[in-house]
Amino acid sequence: MAGGVIVNTGGGKEYPGKLTLFVFITCVVAATGGLIFGYDIGISGGVTSMNPFLKKFFPEVFRKKEGDKSTNQYCKFDSQLLTTFTSSLYLAALVASFFASTVTRVFGRKWSMLCGGLTFLVGAALNGAAQDVLMLILGRILLGIGVGFANQSVPVYLSEMAPAKLRGMLNIGFQLMITVGILAASLINYGTAKIKAGWGWRVSLALAAVPAVIITVGSVFLPDTPNSLIERGYPEEAQHMLRRIRGTDDIHDEYRDLVAASEESKLVRHPWANIVKRKYRPQLTMAILIPFFQQLTGINVIMFYAPVLFQTIGFGSNASLMSAVITGLVNVFATFVSIFTADKLGRRKLFLEGGAQMIVCQIIVGTLIAIKFGTSGEGHLSKTYSSFVVLFICIYVAGFAWSWGPLGWLVPSEIFPLEIRSAGQSINVSVNMFFTFVIAQAFLTMLCHMKFGLFYFFGGWVLIMTIFIYLFLPETKNVPIEEMILVWRSHWFWGKFIADEDVHVGKAETEMSNGKPKSDAI
Ligand code: BGC
Repeated sequence: MAGGVIVNTGGGKEYPGKLTLFVFITCVVAATGGLIFGYDIGISGGVTSMNPFLKKFFPEVFRKKEGDKSTNQYCKFDSQLLTTFTSSLYLAALVASFFASTVTRVFGRKWSMLCGGLTFLVGAALNGAAQDVLMLILGRILLGIGVGFANQSVPVYLSEMAPAKLRGMLNIGFQLMITVGILAASLINYGTAKIKAGWGWRVSLALAAVPAVIITVGSVFLPDTPNSLIERGYPEEAQHMLRRIRGTDDIHDEYRDLVAASEESKLVRHPWANIVKRKYRPQLTMAILIPFFQQLTGINVIMFYAPVLFQTIGFGSNASLMSAVITGLVNVFATFVSIFTADKLGRRKLFLEGGAQMIVCQIIVGTLIAIKFGTSGEGHLSKTYSSFVVLFICIYVAGFAWSWGPLGWLVPSEIFPLEIRSAGQSINVSVNMFFTFVIAQAFLTMLCHMKFGLFYFFGGWVLIMTIFIYLFLPETKNVPIEEMILVWRSHWFWGKFIADEDVHVGKAETEMSNGKPKSDAI
C-alpha cells in the first residue's frame, strides 16, 4: 500500500533508513549557505561605525556624528542614509528569491546555491575594492542577490535530504551557520577596527569572499535531492540517491510517496496561482506570518546594532564591540540546544518556551533602561548596572537562538507540498527580507522616539506570536515531509480548509487503515 507511514508526531512508524555519513556531510556542506547571510548581518553594523569608512563614503554622516553634542542618548545615531546602505541588501534579496524559485524548481536546488555563491563572491570583490558609493551599492545588491538565492534553496534542500526523524537537527545546521557567520563578522570587525591606516573596513567587506567560496565550491559537489530529481523527470537517479542517503535498499515506501507527491505536483502548472487556493491556506499563512513574526521579535536590533545600542547605554566603543562578540557567542551556543531538541521536544515546545523567555527579558531590559534614562534620554549606567542589561540581552538572544531563529527557517521549509514548495519558500524569504529591511531602516528612528518603550513594543509582539503558535501551529516533528497534509487535516482550525479529495490516495488509504489521521498536533 502506498503512503506506508502513519503520521504520528510522537514517532510512530517511519521510513526505513538511518543517518548516513553521506547525508550528514551533504547537509553540513549545504548549510554553509547560511554563512553568507550571517556574515552580512554581522559585518555592516561594525563597518558603518568605522570613521575612515564614513569619511570616504558618507562624509555628511561623519560630520554630523562628530559635531553631535546632544546628550540625549536615544537619538545619537539616527541617520537614514547609513541605514539605507545597510538595508538595501535585504531588498535585493527579496527580489532575487523570486527568481531563485524558478531556478530551484526547474534546474534543482544546488544550482540556486551555486548562483547564490557566485553572485555573492562578485559582490564581496566589488565591496572590498570600492572606490565610490556606486561600487559600494552595486556590491551590496550582488550580495543581496546571493543571499536571496541561498536562503531560498538551502533550507528546502536540507529538509528534503534529511530523514524525517532528524530533519530538525539537520535543517538547523543552516541557522547554526548563520550564527557562526554573525560571530565571525563581529570578531573580524573587532580586529579590523583597530587598523590605524584606515583600510580595516576593506578587509571586513572583502572577507565576505571566504564564505562565498565555501558555498560556491561546496554546491558544485552537492548531489540533487530525490524529490527534485523525481520532479525533474529522473526516477532512476532519484532511487539511487534515496538508497545512498538513507543507507538502505528498502526505500520503496518513501520512494512511492515521493512519486505520488510529484505526480500531484505535475497537475499544478502555476505554483504562484495555486498557492492562493483554499487548500493551501494554512501553509500560505505560515509562509507569511512566521518570517514576519521572526523579525518582529526584534532580534536584528541586537544583531545589527548591538555596538550602537551598547554605546547608547554608555559603553565605550571597544566595550561595545566586545559586547557584540559576547551576544554573538551566546547566539551560536544556544543554537545547539535546538539542534539537539527540535526532533525530540518538538517545534511547539521550543517556540513557546523561547517566546516566554524573550518576553520576560524584554520587559526587564526596557525597565532597566527606563529607570536610568527615563524619557529624556539623559543619564549614565554604572558598570554593574550595564552588566545586568547585557546579561538579560544575552538571555533574550539565547531564547531566540533556540526558538524563532532556527524554527523560522525550519518550519516553513518542511510544511509545503512539493507543488508549491519553491514558491512558498520564496514568499518566506521575501517576507523575512522585507521585515529585516523595515526593522533595519526604522530602528534608530524608533529608538529615538519610542525610547525604552521600544523593548516593550517588541515584547508585545513576542506575546502575540507566542499565542499564535499555541493556537495555530501544529507539531511537525518526525512527520515525513510529503505527508504533512495530514497534520493540517487533523488540526482543529486548519482542518476546515482541507477537503477529503485534497489528500492523495496513498495518504487517504493510510488514514483509512488507521481510522483517523494520527497526530498529536493540537
Ligand atoms: C534571522 C536573522 C537573524 C539571525 C540571528 C536568523 O534566523 O533570519 O534575521 O539576524 O537569525 O541569529
